[in-house]
Amino acid sequence: SVDISTFTRQTGHTALDYGFVNTAATKSAITYIDGDQGILRYRGYPIEQLAKNSTYLEVAWLLIYGELPSASELAEFDEKIRRHTLLHEDLKRFFSALPHTAHPMSVLSSAVSALSTYYEHQSDPNNPEHVELNTIRMLAKLPVIAAYAHKKSIGQAFLYPDNSLGFVDNFLKLNFGVLSEVYEVDPVMSRALERLLILHEDHEQNASTSTVRLVGSTGANQFSSISAGINALYGPLHGGANEAVLDMLARIRDSGESVQRFVERVKNKEDGVKLMGFGHRVYKNYDPRAKLVKESADEVLSALGVSDPLLDLAKELEEIALNDAYFQDRRLYPNVDFYTGVIYKAMGFPTRMFTVLFAIGRLPGWLAQWREAGADPQTKIGRPQQLYTGAGERSYPGL
Ligand code: ACO
Repeated sequence: SVDISTFTRQTGHTALDYGFVNTAATKSAITYIDGDQGILRYRGYPIEQLAKNSTYLEVAWLLIYGELPSASELAEFDEKIRRHTLLHEDLKRFFSALPHTAHPMSVLSSAVSALSTYYEHQSDPNNPEHVELNTIRMLAKLPVIAAYAHKKSIGQAFLYPDNSLGFVDNFLKLNFGVLSEVYEVDPVMSRALERLLILHEDHEQNASTSTVRLVGSTGANQFSSISAGINALYGPLHGGANEAVLDMLARIRDSGESVQRFVERVKNKEDGVKLMGFGHRVYKNYDPRAKLVKESADEVLSALGVSDPLLDLAKELEEIALNDAYFQDRRLYPNVDFYTGVIYKAMGFPTRMFTVLFAIGRLPGWLAQWREAGADPQTKIGRPQQLYTGAGERSYPGL
């Protein structure tokens, strides 16, 4: 790799790189990806080991602070997060002002922006105590906001967080518990969700993380930066793909179109149709996260006693695509989003909640990357160049 910033500054040249395909915007010590070999590591630890043995909060600590926590550090972190789960009561009125048809991702990003209004007096990005406090607040409150967005969309009453429960169990209860009924967390579902969240925790400079860093580079606080990141994640080419995959599978099933015919339409780029959940800017091999998700899909569905023909459809699609020259030549493989939706659906989440689950997963990465950028003395305000292609100078009519 070459540092072209000095070269371009000294020579007055500008490098044009649509989509930042070849341009690094930063150095980072958080996540390592080798897209050709399908390797993903957080702070040096292989994703496979973390997904199998760790917890969401332990990985969050690892990403944010750089090392695995000791048992007492983790216990203290967990305790602090449990103490910050409550939302200000007034925020409930914010939710009731939105239509029940609102997409939960729009609710999530708006509510995170709204959350910042309660902490403006403690949101100085240059004050380490504020940064620490808001890291805890975000980790504690985002799942509660997410669950309220879900409850709102199905017209059910919000539950208060149950701080006797761990992070994932509390989240499940907030989503699936009902007032005046006892909710027993299913350990299979809890562990399966924890694993999926771990797989999403960071992925270096993807569109949403780059957005968080770019907004942060202006001196904006964590709430504003992360709200912007949530909006970037919402798009169907990024986190929104998990919802788009399920919609695509359901459409194929309902239309009666054969999988082969659908693949032909993708290859012919008919109406711009894509095989959602396939392809990745960095992975030119099987996405290691997709491998893990696929492995757990059968396991989780059978443990939950669910059989879903959409899983068989997804496998059939994958089989046909992987043996087809169009996908082979372009090195298109399933990405993390291809199989997650089938599992979320089996757990009982509506399709529109899938990207919200991605956002909860990605939050520790956004926080870690925002903090890393803030602590790096080389960070400057992000300000891409352009090559102007418009009109030359001309006069306003009549002058
Ligand atoms: N289906 C069909 N063709 C595809 C797909 C796909 N899913 N993905 C890429 N291609 C084709 C492109 O049309 C292009 O073909 P061409 O050379 O004939 O023009 C070629 O493969 C290269 O693709 P690009 O669009 O240049 O690749 P890029 O790196 O810019 O895009 C992206 C990556 C956005 C992920 C793309 O593969 C895509 O749109 N996938 C579907 C959406 C998706 O699953 N997104 C989730 C990504 S993972 C994540 O965010 C968590």
